[in-house]
Amino acid sequence: MYNGSKIIVGLIVFAGIVTFPFIYNLGKVNAKPEPKIDTPVIQQLKEKNCIESKEFMKANHMQLLNKWRDMVVRNGKRVYVNSKGEKYEISLQNTCLKCHSNKKEFCDECHNYMSVKTHCWNCHLESKG
Ligand code: HEC
Ligand code: HEC
Ligand code: HEC
Repeated sequence: MYNGSKIIVGLIVFAGIVTFPFIYNLGKVNAKPEPKIDTPVIQQLKEKNCIESKEFMKANHMQLLNKWRDMVVRNGKRVYVNSKGEKYEISLQNTCLKCHSNKKEFCDECHNYMSVKTHCWNCHLESKG
C-alpha cells in the first residue's frame, strides 16, 4: 500500500515550486534590471572595464561565450586576447564570474527581466565556492 496523503502533499509542494517563479515575478515585471557591478574584484580594478567595451558586452556576450567554448573545446586554446591586446583566461567561472561574482544580481537579474534561460549552470559552476 502506498501513502496517499504523502503523494498529495508532494503534489502541492511540487505545484508551489513550479508556479513560484511566476508568482514571484508578478510584481516585478516592470522594474528595469540594474545589473550590479559592485563586487570585491571589480572594486579593486583601477579602470572599471569589462574584457571588451560595455556596449560590445551588452550586445555580444552570448556570441563571445560561444566563441570561447569553441576555442577551448575544439581548438584547446585557453587564452583570449581582447581588442586592446590584454590577455584573459578563457573561463566562465575563473574569468567572467571572478569579476561578476554576484551572478544573481548581475547575470540573472538581466536574464530574468528579458526571460532569457541559460542551461550553462547545469554543468558550469557559478563561482568558486
Ligand atoms: C552538458 C554540460 C555543459 C553545458 C550544459 C554547458 N557546458 Fe560549457 N563546457 C562543458 C565542458 C565539459 C567544457 C570543457 C571544460 C574544459 O575543458 O575546461 C566546457 C567549456 C566551456 C567554456 C570554456 C572553458 C570554461 O571553463 O569556461 C565556455 C566559455 C563554456 N563552456 C561556455 C558555456 C556556455 C555559455 C554554456 C551555456 C549556454 C555552456 N557552456 C553549457 C560542459 C557544458
Ligand atoms: C576584469 C573584470 C571583468 C571580467 C573578467 C568580466 N567583466 Fe563583465 N563587466 C565588468 C565591468 C567593470 C563592467 C561594467 C563596465 C562599464 O560600466 O563600462 C562589466 C560589464 C559587463 C556587461 C554589461 C552590463 C550592462 O550593464 O550592460 C556584461 C553583459 C558583462 N560584463 C558580461 C561579462 C561576461 C559574459 C564575461 C566573461 C566572458 C565578463 N563580463 C568578464 C568587469 C568584468
Ligand atoms: C544587460 C543585461 C545582461 C547581463 C548583465 C547579462 N546578460 Fe546574458 N543575455 C542577455 C540577453 C538579452 C540575452 C539574449 C540575447 C539573445 O537572445 O540574442 C542573453 C543571453 C545570454 C546567453 C545565451 C543564452 C542561450 O542559451 O542562448 C548566455 C550564455 C549568457 N547570456 C550569459 C551571461 C552571463 C554568464 C552573464 C553574467 C556574467 C550575463 N549573461 C549577463 C542579457 C544580459
